Amino acid sequence: MSFATLAAVVAAQKCPLQFDGRIPKDATLDSFDTSSSPFNDAYVIGGNQKWSSILQFPTVNSSLFDANGTKALEVTISSSSIFQSQTGFRRSELLPASNSGTDPSTAGVKTIHFSVQKDTSRPLNTSHEYQLFFLESNDYSTNQVVLKYGSIIGGNPSGVSSDSLMVMGNVNAKPVVNLYSTKFTPGTWHNFAITLNFNAGTTQVYYSTNNAPLASVSKAVKNDVSGQGEYHFGILKKPTGGGSDITKSGFQEAGINEGIIFGGIFEEDSSSSGCISLKP
Ligand SMILES: *[C@@H]1O[C@H](CO)[C@@H](O)[C@H](O)[C@H]1NC(C)=O
Ligand SMILES: *[C@@H]1O[C@H](CO)[C@@H](O)[C@H](O)[C@H]1NC(C)=O
Ligand SMILES: *[C@@H]1O[C@H](CO)[C@@H](O)[C@H](O)[C@H]1NC(C)=O
Repeated sequence: MSFATLAAVVAAQKCPLQFDGRIPKDATLDSFDTSSSPFNDAYVIGGNQKWSSILQFPTVNSSLFDANGTKALEVTISSSSIFQSQTGFRRSELLPASNSGTDPSTAGVKTIHFSVQKDTSRPLNTSHEYQLFFLESNDYSTNQVVLKYGSIIGGNPSGVSSDSLMVMGNVNAKPVVNLYSTKFTPGTWHNFAITLNFNAGTTQVYYSTNNAPLASVSKAVKNDVSGQGEYHFGILKKPTGGGSDITKSGFQEAGINEGIIFGGIFEEDSSSSGCISLKP
């Protein structure tokens, strides 16, 4: 078999894409304020904010699934990151442009891919709870799967420090299932793939660091992923010491300057015999 033929076979085995949030090398920050952005240009950001003043292009090595000429993107929060009336939260979250809340990205069997890395010059504060990725149901009543970090309100999973990434199941479950957790080590890409089976009601996590291929780190665990909704990638910082409605109460310090670096955001269709890309 010639090299060209082999390459064609490998490409043909790739799973179909549902959406692609990988950033072309020549993309400008201004393009995220327009409809040419792979993400919604209006949500979820503070009043009077623009994505071009929230996002950065950091100097880091390519993440696993950016190896083919796409680049990393950093999402930051400041004290101006107040979405609508949610004065208890600080939020900057990217929503895939095609993800309406009722589109096929939350049907069938889908695998969400993304990588995260710390920006050590804009550290998060481990006294707070953060959500760095989540699926929020279309009626806003729950998050069916969440990547959390920090001091979780109500307590961290047993033995899991606040400086950890935690993939949790539906936040309305009692108890909430901690699917996987790992130390959020600096200077390292943490690569995740999360298979959401909307038919069977299960969630399975795959993980690796830097350029290593993804490997399964959980079984396909029962988890209520019904309710469709939207995928959020970015920073949602919760307050400390809030009351019954933490969206509008609790403490946020002044002068916030925090960021998280993302790479390789995309969703593939795993409906056909569990198709999943473990490496590019
Ligand atoms: C990029 O990767 C190389 C090789 O692993 C490493 O030596 C270097 O520190 C990395 N650079 C950055 C900016 O992470
Ligand atoms: C972390 O957050 C706590 C609670 O908001 C605050 O008291 C503290 O000053 C913050 N620490 C840093 C290093 O910003
Ligand atoms: C890399 O990009 C080229 C050109 O767009 C494409 O043909 C190839 O399939 C891509 N490879 C991977 C691994 O994504």
